[in-house]
Amino acid sequence: MLSRLGMKGEAVVITGGGAGIGKAAAAALCELGATSVIVGRTESTLLATRDEFRAKGWLCETFVADVSKEADVASLARWAGNRFGAVKAVVNNAGDNFSSPIDALPTEQWRRLMATNLDSVYFMCRDFIPLLLKCSRPSIVNVASTFGVIGNPRMPAYCATKGAVVNLTRQLAIDYGGKGLRVNSVCPGSTLSPRYKGYVDKGMVDMNAVRARIMLGRPAECEEIGDVIAFLVSDAASFVTGATMLVDGGQTIH
Ligand SMILES: NC(=O)c1ccc[n+]([C@@H]2O[C@H](COP(=O)([O-])OP(=O)(O)OC[C@H]3O[C@@H](n4cnc5c(N)ncnc54)[C@H](O)[C@@H]3O)[C@@H](O)[C@H]2O)c1
Repeated sequence: MLSRLGMKGEAVVITGGGAGIGKAAAAALCELGATSVIVGRTESTLLATRDEFRAKGWLCETFVADVSKEADVASLARWAGNRFGAVKAVVNNAGDNFSSPIDALPTEQWRRLMATNLDSVYFMCRDFIPLLLKCSRPSIVNVASTFGVIGNPRMPAYCATKGAVVNLTRQLAIDYGGKGLRVNSVCPGSTLSPRYKGYVDKGMVDMNAVRARIMLGRPAECEEIGDVIAFLVSDAASFVTGATMLVDGGQTIH
């Protein structure tokens, strides 16, 4: 199995790879030998992560893009095509949240979450599938959420986008399975990323309630999600497609 986890010489593109779950996935993929291409909006964050990775001897490239923008994703795909020719996998991880009941939800926040969490996945899949199909055993991993399979108070836009990502994943797995492309979603539960820690610091998260609803009694570290993403990208998961992989410490089993 160890040899099937290896990805030496292969390029994997991770959106939102400069921080949080995306960074952890990029690190795990680097450890398996891949070249991680980390994509984000803030160049300084990307370069800091790249330098941290390169100091460990890992292969890492950066690309500045807002993946909610069609033109940015088109530029990214063009660059990746010229730089690598073929791409082993895309990890659609970039995402954001906004909390409000629907009767107080501003249209611009609804549209912003649709663009960040869902349009980005559409643009990335559409523009990268030709590059993925040039690779043997390619795959896409879409980072959804437990709130893509269950609801949560005051998160109508987030739950809608993540539910859509889960079912878009199944749909793509149907259309491209015959061409050898695997498409899976990973649904993290509460995970201690910078964004999540920011919510905790602002008092927006009741940690006692979070611990109580997770069977393992604690939130995840980013690495615990990143490792599952890297496994799904690897050939060790060669018969897994269309899966909705809950990585939630047992949050959704009851
Ligand atoms: N942290 C959690 O508890 C949790 C739980 C379930 C699902 N998720 C999902 O996991 C993913 C990563 O979340 P995280 O908590 O690590 O977030 P994070 O904010 O800590 O990291 C996300 C990264 O994506 C980048 N990003 C956001 N919008 C972007 C855009 N339009 N273009 C390019 N880059 C963009 C951010 O700048 C950041 O670097 C998201 O899709 C999120 O919805 C997180």
